[in-house]
Amino acid sequence: MGVQYMPGFGNDFETESLPGALPQGQNSPQRPAYGLYAEQLSGSPFTAPRGTNERSWLYRIRPSVKHTGRFSAVRFDSWKSAPNLGDHELALGQLRWNPMPLPNAETDFLAGVHTMTTAGDAQGQAGMATHVYAFNSSMVDDYFFNADGELLLVPQEGGLRLKTEMGIIEIQPGEIAILPRGMIFQVELMSGPARGYMCENYGAKFTLPDRGPIGANCLANPRDFKTPVAWYEDKERPCRLFVKWCGQFHVTEIGHSPLDVVAWHGNYAPYKYDLSTYSPVGAILFDHPDPSIFTVLTAPSGEEGTANIDFVIFPPRWMVAEHTFRPPWYHRNIMSEFMGLIKGQYDAKEEGFVPGGASLHNMMLPHGPDAFGFDKATKAELKPVKLEDTMAFMFETRFPQHLTRYAAETDTLQDNYIDCWNDLKKRFNGTPEGDWS
Ligand SMILES: [Fe+2]
Repeated sequence: MGVQYMPGFGNDFETESLPGALPQGQNSPQRPAYGLYAEQLSGSPFTAPRGTNERSWLYRIRPSVKHTGRFSAVRFDSWKSAPNLGDHELALGQLRWNPMPLPNAETDFLAGVHTMTTAGDAQGQAGMATHVYAFNSSMVDDYFFNADGELLLVPQEGGLRLKTEMGIIEIQPGEIAILPRGMIFQVELMSGPARGYMCENYGAKFTLPDRGPIGANCLANPRDFKTPVAWYEDKERPCRLFVKWCGQFHVTEIGHSPLDVVAWHGNYAPYKYDLSTYSPVGAILFDHPDPSIFTVLTAPSGEEGTANIDFVIFPPRWMVAEHTFRPPWYHRNIMSEFMGLIKGQYDAKEEGFVPGGASLHNMMLPHGPDAFGFDKATKAELKPVKLEDTMAFMFETRFPQHLTRYAAETDTLQDNYIDCWNDLKKRFNGTPEGDWS
């Protein structure tokens, strides 16, 4: 039987993998069925307003206190947390990277995560980190949770099976998954090696953006988000639980799997989403809206309209605007933009920005179409054109993004990205017509 999911975003779900395992009418019976332990997992303070209050009740073989023994410190030097300042010498700039190579040595998910940028402060629960990952082996008896934030996984190559406390999620390139803060999980490969991107959100959880005048439909629709049904393993052999907590890693050795939740109910749970179900809204006469029109999920900060993180995609779509420069316009931005490409081409950069690669346009640094893209867009016949077979995305944050030493010194950093604008020539010649030769 394949993996099963429940549809909806932020629902109050209930699910049991054994009949009668989920208590009805109360959360904490004196003796839960099957000898299970009842435990609450709080994703928000108890007293958070109803609209942002998140918790689930888990009915498990052992309480979570049995999934930790004494901790010892352990190092994963390539996974950094904010603040992580001043560990490289690279000067400010617009930057672009080629894809992270797949490893040769045996590498699992935890060892395969390489942080590119950090922003804000994990301990202040504000900001984020952008990571790339590449790995070639599954976690077997190792498990992990991240106390520092929720994780948004964006596969670019290779499918992932995410075994979590609350069920199994399988994702392929073109899909994303969100693992809430504190959720214990294990990452398995589904076929070959895997590569992709991950955004770590230190702040308030991702939610759906308001649609304003767009109305009640389009963009990411709630029914297309999928939460797994309950699943457990009753596995008794030496296992390790790794934890990232305020940027430090720790490990504890236990004698069983911590993925032992037989039934659960609540609204704090992992989920996945297929980006091809996103219904883009855009220009149908001239100009085009700001890229925020393509927001899939937004993680709010305390300030209205000023996201801790926006997760934005650039999906296949029709370009129909009349008398309009159709690619993204030139831009300087108080927000900081980290982009990746899952497949195909991005319309502002047909060359150099390749699937698996990344770019960074940091706070107030100018960016926009390269010279080739500008030339093409200003000469194109403006008939309807469909951008096909493409999927770029952006992790955009209100905080400046600080490079890690890895991002600053890796061989995949392109040293000539800034040259992509060299051939933009002066078109102003004092006449109203300008020089469009
Ligand atoms: Fe921009």
